[in-house]
Amino acid sequence: MLFKSAIGAGFVAAVGAAPQATYSYNQSPSVNSGALSTVTSIAGLPATEIPEATLPVPPLVSSQVTGATSHGAFNGTPTTTGALSNSPLATVGPTAALPPNPTALVYNPNGTLNNPQPLPYQPAGGLGTNGTKPVYRVQSDFDYQSILLGLYQEWIELDLFHNILATFNESEFTAAGLTPSDRFLIEFMADQESGHATLLSNLLGGPGGATPQCTYNYPFKTVREAFDFTQKLTRFGESGVWGFQAHLDAREVAQLLDQSIATEARQQMIFRQFAGLFPMPVWFETGIPQSWAWTLLAPYISECPANSKRLAWQNFPALKVLNQPNSARMNATQTGLNETTGFGPAAPSSDVPYNESCLSTNTTGFSCLASISQNRTIPLSYPGRRVQLSWENPGKAVGPNNSYITDTEAGAPKFVIWVSQLNVTYSPLVNISSEGDVNYGATIQPDVSTYEGDPAINGTMFIALTDKDLPFTAFNLSSVNPHVAAGPFLYQAG
Ligand SMILES: *[C@@H]1O[C@H](CO)[C@@H](O)[C@H](O)[C@H]1NC(C)=O
Ligand SMILES: *[C@@H]1O[C@H](CO)[C@@H](O)[C@H](O)[C@H]1NC(C)=O
Ligand SMILES: *[C@@H]1O[C@H](CO)[C@@H](O)[C@H](O)[C@H]1NC(C)=O
Ligand SMILES: *[C@@H]1O[C@H](CO)[C@@H](O)[C@H](O)[C@H]1NC(C)=O
Ligand SMILES: *[C@@H]1O[C@H](CO)[C@@H](O)[C@H](O)[C@H]1NC(C)=O
Ligand SMILES: *[C@@H]1O[C@H](CO)[C@@H](O)[C@H](O)[C@H]1NC(C)=O
Ligand SMILES: *[C@@H]1O[C@H](CO)[C@@H](O)[C@H](O)[C@H]1NC(C)=O
Ligand SMILES: *[C@@H]1O[C@H](CO)[C@@H](O)[C@H](O)[C@H]1NC(C)=O
Ligand SMILES: *[C@@H]1O[C@H](CO)[C@@H](O)[C@H](O)[C@H]1NC(C)=O
Ligand SMILES: *[C@@H]1O[C@H](CO)[C@@H](O)[C@H](O)[C@H]1NC(C)=O
Ligand SMILES: *[C@@H]1O[C@H](CO)[C@@H](O)[C@H](O)[C@H]1NC(C)=O
Ligand SMILES: *[C@@H]1O[C@H](CO)[C@@H](O)[C@H](O)[C@H]1NC(C)=O
Repeated sequence: MLFKSAIGAGFVAAVGAAPQATYSYNQSPSVNSGALSTVTSIAGLPATEIPEATLPVPPLVSSQVTGATSHGAFNGTPTTTGALSNSPLATVGPTAALPPNPTALVYNPNGTLNNPQPLPYQPAGGLGTNGTKPVYRVQSDFDYQSILLGLYQEWIELDLFHNILATFNESEFTAAGLTPSDRFLIEFMADQESGHATLLSNLLGGPGGATPQCTYNYPFKTVREAFDFTQKLTRFGESGVWGFQAHLDAREVAQLLDQSIATEARQQMIFRQFAGLFPMPVWFETGIPQSWAWTLLAPYISECPANSKRLAWQNFPALKVLNQPNSARMNATQTGLNETTGFGPAAPSSDVPYNESCLSTNTTGFSCLASISQNRTIPLSYPGRRVQLSWENPGKAVGPNNSYITDTEAGAPKFVIWVSQLNVTYSPLVNISSEGDVNYGATIQPDVSTYEGDPAINGTMFIALTDKDLPFTAFNLSSVNPHVAAGPFLYQAG
């Protein structure tokens, strides 16, 4: 019960900067008498004999969305611009990686107990294991801004899943291979997002720290494009959290957050299945820095209410793959230039003529009708593929109310960083040119593996442009940020 109330009613402490306008939502648990009478009639027992049946349940954070909210671009003028900031204590971080923490090399993993056990059956060590009561609340600006970013992501997913159901009719879903049960799964996943938005709002300290839902702008027009966009959006939602969860000050927050992201990971895979992609062509899911997730998300948020909280993360200049492998093709090797539709770093692959579309066939290896698994005979990409890129210069307005400005601290881009699975790798950026405000370049898709038998670059993964090829790994990838000249972009490697 303690747990139930801790994740429900939340902590009404004000966290972060004072909001412009107050935001509130109902936090009072209540008993849903309709649901209760269903339970008692199925059980054939009075409520008093069913344990906990009459306990009040915390409400969901209210969302504006019923599937009919307005969508589209922002046409107004921002009232404020730039990321949230105060006075940074330094302008640059360490220019080279520091040596490992000496205490990190002390423990001897040799199968024995190195230290006295604090209690029977409890080996020494661990954090948060000494019996103190958990506090499910952010504990630093880092925590707050990370979970706030997560809440922006949960809100768009809630809207997006409803919007997909509201936009397309049954025959359009059927043509993409979806059954009524599949459509109900989308509705159920939207409900999960209501729960995630409520959990994250409470972890942020309740209404004083949380942010309301915004208005969104989506780049798709067909069911297949919608699923392609959504499998990309949920990929950066999931990877955005894997990038910071181990760095949070509040382990209690990391605990509950991980339990929501485990669900999000399943959603990402389901949308790949709905898009007729192989569900999980990698052995490990990668993490990305918060500023990468924010750069990927911001272009799809058009406008937020006046009482929204602002983010401190960076928006990098936009990067685009001009020959993004087209997952709508039976033969993706035939992908030409500009075969994406809409806008932004998660722009879906465009539909192609029916006779070239993977939706037009049931043939194994060529079909992309919704399925548990579609094994593609012709992979979407391959090591050695020539990848053509274009990118913007910094200084462009993006995100909610066009109120964030793209920025980079890097020198001229020289490399493409490929972030997938456990590690990063670089390829040289060549044939660089500019035409007006747009820059062009190309690179060759590398051939790297995590372990024998697992090519690292596959699935829906991340690329960006950097000025140096420094060796970052999963736990310190955010140190790459000062070297990012443009991107990230979601590359459809497989
Ligand atoms: C294992 O490591 C611990 C700590 O260094 C040491 O005390 C112990 O003797 C080692 N045991 C074996 C079997 O190597
Ligand atoms: C329990 O552990 C936490 C760190 O996980 C520490 O901050 C706290 O002081 C410890 N409390 C006691 C009573 O040892
Ligand atoms: C479903 O939507 C498509 C595209 O807008 C349209 O062509 C079709 O007639 C609609 N079908 C039904 C049964 O409403
Ligand atoms: C964004 O723009 C809308 C419409 O102009 C306005 O109502 C809203 O207050 C703005 N949001 C912020 C955070 O300034
Ligand atoms: C796929 O397209 C490539 C490039 O046009 C072509 O060389 C190849 O033969 C095609 N494969 C099949 C199975 O159609
Ligand atoms: C693709 O888009 C780029 C950038 O907008 C443009 O320069 C190029 O001409 C387009 N190429 C084709 C084949 O449409
Ligand atoms: C598909 O049809 C178009 C014209 O309708 C044709 O140009 C193209 O070659 C066809 N593609 C295939 C793979 O048959
Ligand atoms: C795939 O097979 C099913 C069952 O035979 C059939 O109803 C459907 O029309 C086929 N779809 C396509 C695109 O060939
Ligand atoms: C699946 O695709 C791979 C190529 O990516 C191929 O080697 C394998 O034979 C295919 N398996 C089936 C069952 O189609
Ligand atoms: C990605 O994984 C799939 C499934 O194993 C495989 O068929 C494909 O060849 C892989 N693609 C790349 C680029 O390695
Ligand atoms: C990551 O890649 C670098 C460079 O390829 C390599 O030296 C390092 O061992 C890899 N680290 C991990 C954890 O795989
Ligand atoms: C760079 O340009 C040269 C000359 O046009 C071309 O041969 C080469 O394939 C290009 N490299 C890439 C990676 O596109």
